[in-house]
Amino acid sequence: MKTTAFIAASLDGFIARRDGDIKWLDDPRHTDVGEDYGYTALTVKIDAIVLGRKSFEKVLTFGNWPYGTMRVIVMARSPIDIPPAIAEHVQTSSATPDTLIADLASQGLKHLYIDGGQLIQSFLAARLLNELIITRIPRLLGAGIPLFGPLPDEIGLQHVETKAFPKGLVQSRYEVIYG
Ligand SMILES: NC(=O)c1ccc[n+]([C@@H]2O[C@H](COP(=O)([O-])OP(=O)(O)OC[C@H]3O[C@@H](n4cnc5c(N)ncnc54)[C@H](OP(=O)(O)O)[C@@H]3O)[C@@H](O)[C@H]2O)c1
Repeated sequence: MKTTAFIAASLDGFIARRDGDIKWLDDPRHTDVGEDYGYTALTVKIDAIVLGRKSFEKVLTFGNWPYGTMRVIVMARSPIDIPPAIAEHVQTSSATPDTLIADLASQGLKHLYIDGGQLIQSFLAARLLNELIITRIPRLLGAGIPLFGPLPDEIGLQHVETKAFPKGLVQSRYEVIYG
């Protein structure tokens, strides 16, 4: 199973403000309207999105469901309500990352998109994240929800490529090595 995190972070490593606000991601001073920074190219390759419960709850506040008919698995240890309009495509799981991956692999899935800071950290800690695509936003939040956190062991990353976009976003792709 291939697992990819595709996520934007401030230069000081935060994926959202302390209250979960992510409007700063779309600030026109650094973000080009009409540029999706490789998001569509990734989503056509994946078999499912695995979302942390907090990211899922944030997405529900957008008012429009951005994932269409793509299979979405929400990782939550507490019960959550799935709106009926999306229930056909969304399931919840309280499995550990290794159990989840074994289960989805047995169903024939080959590539997962892992989203949410805590969820990405738990996949890293379990040594189950293979690819990290991080888009650095030229902004220092000073505080917020971190992308990274404590790990049981250091993790090596193999840099694959870095692209700089005209307004200053810098996107780097890494293969996660665990060496
Ligand atoms: N900048 C970006 O590109 C980007 C991308 C995605 C999200 N975000 C933002 O990030 C914020 C949410 O991220 P977050 O880090 O706070 O939370 P998160 O990773 O989205 O969700 C964490 C929750 O996932 C559940 N969970 C289930 N299994 C887990 C496991 N093995 N490891 C960790 N969590 C597990 C837990 O829910 P229970 O408490 O129910 O057990 C946990 O509280 C939102 O504001 C969202 O908008 C930003």
